[in-house]
Amino acid sequence: MRKVGIASIGAYVPPKILTNNDSEKMVDTTDEWITTRTGIKERRIAEDWQASSDLAIQAAQLALANANLEAKELDLIIVCGVTFDYPFPATACILQDKLGATCPGFDLSAGCSGLIYALSVGAQFIANGMYDNILVVGGETLSKIIDWQDRSTCVLFGDAASAVILGPVDTGGFRSFVLGADGGGGKLLELPAGGSRLPASYETISQRLHFIKMNGRDVFKFAVRVMEEASLEAIDKAGLTLKDIDLFIPHQANIRIIESAAERLNVPKDKFFVNLDRYGNTSSASVGLALYEAFLEGKIQKGSKILMVGFGAGLTWGACVLEW
Ligand code: UT7
Repeated sequence: MRKVGIASIGAYVPPKILTNNDSEKMVDTTDEWITTRTGIKERRIAEDWQASSDLAIQAAQLALANANLEAKELDLIIVCGVTFDYPFPATACILQDKLGATCPGFDLSAGCSGLIYALSVGAQFIANGMYDNILVVGGETLSKIIDWQDRSTCVLFGDAASAVILGPVDTGGFRSFVLGADGGGGKLLELPAGGSRLPASYETISQRLHFIKMNGRDVFKFAVRVMEEASLEAIDKAGLTLKDIDLFIPHQANIRIIESAAERLNVPKDKFFVNLDRYGNTSSASVGLALYEAFLEGKIQKGSKILMVGFGAGLTWGACVLEW
């Protein structure tokens, strides 16, 4: 089996900013509540004409340029998300066409754990020698499925895309992957209508069932537990200990979840990269966007050992250890 690593990364956020003060004008909330309960100060919002693939292409083109790779050299495209352009065709195929690539592509749905799931899937194709260059993109326009009248969710989410190019490496690379799911918790975080269970109808629209519904408290408890468990399992599988990890890249949902995980793991908080204050929860894009910004800030060097961990709808979770 070949070793697999990250050849390059890219990210894109739309320019429009929605601050907590803006949210105060939309629902019964305050900057103080949002800041103390979540750590979020602002988030990015896509234009009406922008679908997830429009964000994804920007991140993908940057990652291709950073890898010095032409789109035609890609062997596979995996797009993860919860806000695909359409139920079908796959957003990966739309992206393939827009990029001018000729390879196969498919979408992967694993909630906010999407990027870690997709990285693990892509890594298998490279490890077994089937492919060399794989584009993994997390692209989300969550603003399109937010209920802007629901204060318990509308202050949390934002729009973004992040892209990773996977390739074979001689040294370092991914040292472990841990994936998990508990479908019994699916109701805690869902978009009830628009699928075959509840096709779009006058009733589903009038009952606002085409928007995110979440039991925040229960998802919070689940998140804190799996962040700790999945991180420890991934580190153990990599043959490392907590002290070996230079940087933790957690899913950016809530600063209190990240701080609780840091405390439970007994890891200094400054080892956890945080940018949710500027972007909110961007679901499948979040871990890649954090990885990209950590890289730009010089927090990642050759040989750095990085733990990425995510959790979300499904319920799902995932963690991996990467040696840069
Ligand atoms: O990506 C994975 C998916 N999502 C997550 O990871 C989210 C996980 N959950 C959370 O981050 C937190 O549970 C929330 C941020 C969603 C909520 O924070 P909380 O501390 O768990 O608050 P809560 O749901 O227990 O609500 C506390 C109070 C409630 O009022 P009452 O019932 O105590 O009177 C809510 O109605 O806060 C109220 N509330 C708000 N108040 C002002 C809920 N949303 C707001 C708001 N502004 N935006």
